[in-house]
Amino acid sequence: MYTKLNKASIRTGVELIDKQHFKYFSIVNNMLDNLGDKEQNKTLFKDLNNYVIYHFKTEEDFMNKYNYDKTVQHIRQHDYFRDKVKELTRLYSKTSDFDVNVKMKISCLLIDWFVKHIQTVDKHLCEFILTQSKMDSGIMAKLKSLLNRFTAKHGEEAEWQ
Ligand SMILES: [Fe+2]
Ligand SMILES: [Fe+2]
Repeated sequence: MYTKLNKASIRTGVELIDKQHFKYFSIVNNMLDNLGDKEQNKTLFKDLNNYVIYHFKTEEDFMNKYNYDKTVQHIRQHDYFRDKVKELTRLYSKTSDFDVNVKMKISCLLIDWFVKHIQTVDKHLCEFILTQSKMDSGIMAKLKSLLNRFTAKHGEEAEWQ
């Protein structure tokens, strides 16, 4: 285990995104604990790449769904990180010698950068998602009650015809 996370400090309030963030850190910790065996490294890096792509897509889908106004800036950070993870993979996936310094370098990027990203841009995005989804459910509740009133009224009229 390379990091003791303060979970409260990275909680965004959007359950799906929080779950994915915690899963990401468990993948990274598992990776840092098990780097060394050449065959295993390939799988570890592959899992990391896949999960990063998958998680960023989830957030980017939310941005599109709600027309998020900071989409460009946020995706720029995702692009930077996707490239960095690819670079790490190219540099280290075929290595078998991981001293403490190399592991620290990897952990700095994969953990420190990610935590900072969550605490700044992800939290901003998630506040936006929560506000938008509350508005959506408010509108849906209003529509539902209008529809119920309409059906009740016209249902009665239909019976008298
Ligand atoms: Fe995220
Ligand atoms: Fe993000």
